[in-house]
Amino acid sequence: MPPERHRRDVRPAAHGPCMVSLSLLDQERRKKCHQPSSHQMAPASSFRNDRGPHSPAATALASTAAPAHHPPDTREGMAAMSQADVYSTPHRIIHWATAALIIGLVPIGIYMSSIPYPPNPGANPALKNSLYEWHKSFGLVVLLLAVARVALKVTQGTPPPVPTLTTFQRIASAATHHLLYVLIFLVPFLGWLATSMCYGPVNLFWTIPVTLPFSGQESTCAGIYRVHFGTAVLMTLLVFAHVGAALMHLVVFKDGVFRRMWP
Ligand code: HEM
Ligand code: HEM
Repeated sequence: MPPERHRRDVRPAAHGPCMVSLSLLDQERRKKCHQPSSHQMAPASSFRNDRGPHSPAATALASTAAPAHHPPDTREGMAAMSQADVYSTPHRIIHWATAALIIGLVPIGIYMSSIPYPPNPGANPALKNSLYEWHKSFGLVVLLLAVARVALKVTQGTPPPVPTLTTFQRIASAATHHLLYVLIFLVPFLGWLATSMCYGPVNLFWTIPVTLPFSGQESTCAGIYRVHFGTAVLMTLLVFAHVGAALMHLVVFKDGVFRRMWP
């Protein structure tokens, strides 16, 4: 699929609501077509969405424009969505790979740090070392995925927000997403920095040397690890809020937001 299909700025006018020829909605459509703002660039499906899933206009348009109306949060509804409405396949792969890794890294990070060193009871140096190595390597993979994700966002863009979102939802989701973007860089970078400074070498999956060229006092590294932990906790809280919101969109609002990212 050509990259242009995901860019906000190149959505062809032919995909816009103004191209839909429906006499029933002529008046409404004219109103909409004269709005110069983001609606002009809105995807075709938004014409249905922005009147609410159950409004008469939505129902009339849906029944005329498509053979059958399917709510956005169904497989059929998803199929009816334009490609420009959903996240691209690479973006979704990166999103879910990152999510799976983060969901694993936080408990493993807490657990591995809690395994005692010998000669304390319960010590298990082999397990501890192995978990540290996996944690560091997969943590660096999160960082690599974050770089790929931003490169993708900059070059291909992401779909515009679903038009039915309220102002609060729009601001809250933008704030959460931006903070998550910052944290998927900051959390692994801090772990990488502290480990390189005080407990190197850092090797990606026991092989590729990736130690950063910095050194420091143990007290500095302990401080950085504290921030590493604190930011990881903040990220976990945000992920809970993010998942809660995603599920609300799936179960309560049924507005297609969840389906845009679902594999
Ligand atoms: C665990 C780590 C996760 C991180 C770091 C994360 C991060 C993000 C970010 C940054 C976006 C915005 C993408 C963009 O517009 O550029 C996003 C979108 C989304 N995420 Fe997540 N996510 C995570 C987990 C999840 C989970 C577990 C779910 C579902 C249960 C989920 C559901 C969604 C959905 C539905 C969207 C699309 C929202 C929209 O269309 O505006 N995410 N995620
Ligand atoms: C998104 C990626 C990452 C997440 C979510 C994460 C999360 C965590 C968490 C929750 C802890 C437990 C902290 C504590 O209990 O004190 C931890 C510890 C640790 N992390 Fe990460 N981490 C990530 C990436 C990395 C990376 C890339 C490295 C190094 C290359 C790293 C190195 C460490 C080390 C060495 C510890 C143990 C610190 C200690 O023993 O005090 N982490 N991490």
